[in-house]
Amino acid sequence: MQHKKMKDFPEDFLWGSASAAYQVEGAWDEDGKGVSVWDTFVRLPGKTFKGTNGDVAVDHYHRFKEDVALMAEQGLKAYRFSIAWSRIFPHNMQEVNEKGLQFYDDLIDELLANHIEPVVTLYHWDIPQYLQDEYLGWESRQIIEDFTTYAEAVFRRYGDRVNYWVTLNEQNVFISHGYLMATHPPAVKDPKRMYQANHHANLANASAIKKYRSLGFQGKIGPSFAYSPGYPIDARPENVLAAENFDELNAYFWMDVYAKGEYPSVIWNWLEENDLLPETLPEDFEVLKAGKPDFMGVNYYQTATVAANPLDGVGIGTPNYSGEKGSTERGGIPGVFKEVLNPFVEKTNWDWDIDPVGLRIALRRINSRYGLPILITENGLGEYDKLEDGEIHDQYRIDYLNDHAKAVQEAITDGVTVLGYCTWSYTDLLSWLNGYQKRYGFVYVDRDEDSPKELKRYKKASYYWYKELIEKNGKNLK
Ligand code: BG6
Repeated sequence: MQHKKMKDFPEDFLWGSASAAYQVEGAWDEDGKGVSVWDTFVRLPGKTFKGTNGDVAVDHYHRFKEDVALMAEQGLKAYRFSIAWSRIFPHNMQEVNEKGLQFYDDLIDELLANHIEPVVTLYHWDIPQYLQDEYLGWESRQIIEDFTTYAEAVFRRYGDRVNYWVTLNEQNVFISHGYLMATHPPAVKDPKRMYQANHHANLANASAIKKYRSLGFQGKIGPSFAYSPGYPIDARPENVLAAENFDELNAYFWMDVYAKGEYPSVIWNWLEENDLLPETLPEDFEVLKAGKPDFMGVNYYQTATVAANPLDGVGIGTPNYSGEKGSTERGGIPGVFKEVLNPFVEKTNWDWDIDPVGLRIALRRINSRYGLPILITENGLGEYDKLEDGEIHDQYRIDYLNDHAKAVQEAITDGVTVLGYCTWSYTDLLSWLNGYQKRYGFVYVDRDEDSPKELKRYKKASYYWYKELIEKNGKNLK
């Protein structure tokens, strides 16, 4: 619908930006930190772009004060970051590493001193390696208790100062890349194991939420889901049905569990038919129902356009991790859907659809289906940036963010409750499989795949644009 007048963003709207421990911190083996599965995975030949790793990343661990000073100057209202589990419990789940806890204490205090709301992610994909070695990590039920123990330790330590918690970042991504596509650790290709690990992750998520509430904290807690709404390529009924299949399997299969404590019946039925059902206990569903979130965290980058795919049709595709436009090979699931090119939207150099209307659609669908407030925990543009005489003219990023923030305002005007908007990312950082050349930040970090150089920070044009946007609380959006 078109509105005659737009609603203003709420006065306490969280204009934020985000990062993740492994992608920014570096200091991978300092101050007692243990090894995570990512520390191991990046050392396997051929797994990441040009063999890049996060050993140094952008050295946020040592430069966080400089980074927070940049945030403060920009007027940032919220900073979303993740805690590295392997800094807190480096070698086992009994001994806590005080130096690891201290690092996040210092970061949180520095943010608060600068009037920036910390939004803390418990898990952004970096499970300690010893849990993987001992019992295969997410594939064992033991992970539910261990994740809850870890969560409790950080709730107790920071709960007096942190009001927003994200439990799991993009469960749908780390589970499908880890156990179906083998592009993330533990690099398994086995759908049966994937659905089992996923069920444990659901329980760990709900159990951590339950624990947070039982400790009496009053903040807000929820997962962050990577939502790419599905579109049918055209109005042919079988393609519309394929888009339904896509959303049921790739979105509601996760979000229904978070918000309602139950799996969508169509997908449960499909899993049963394909002998993929996870093992469950009757009490699991009580845990899932008791762990409902205060908000749905949404990471939005793009939509997916799909068509019908016969039972002997295409399988898993090959994404573009090189930045060579047009190199994606689209895939699908036989008998369910296949991804196709959407001719109506522009693409990035990594072939991601640029679709701000899709963000409004995502917010609307979540609002209608779950009635939960939404925190946009990631949205941004990964592109090549050029440092020229100390400046970065990233007008393409300004256009992208302007159009997406406008879509958020439209959704708010539609009646959706949106708590905040965190861009991805604050500084440039390691893009897991794409090295350092795919940049997302407001702050350029001068390093590349070959060398960390001096890791000098430069403000991009988008840094100044967001500063003004925050000052005007979105009133200058075009
Ligand atoms: C999300 C993740 O999937 O998207 C981030 O939460 C990630 O960690 C971001 O960096 C962008 O993806 P990519 O692959 O371009 O780095």
